[in-house]
Amino acid sequence: ARANCAAKSSGRCNNQIRKHEPKVVDMIDVEDIAEKAAFCRCWKTKNWPYCDGSHAEHNKLTGDNVGPVVVKK
Ligand code: FES
Repeated sequence: ARANCAAKSSGRCNNQIRKHEPKVVDMIDVEDIAEKAAFCRCWKTKNWPYCDGSHAEHNKLTGDNVGPVVVKK
């Protein structure tokens, strides 16, 4: 196990989105999706809950490999 996992803040992935809420939950009606929608899984987007491509910079900086989930209708 990584040593820094014990610190409360070190395991956080959300640094910016609706931090005042106890839990960030989003409900999307599938009927509102035109053809497909890409939802952010890296928590770095400026257009939550949608992916805006910010994962690319995150991956570059951290060596991570995260990307969106794409929902197709
Ligand atoms: Fe977060 Fe694309 S911006 S997955």
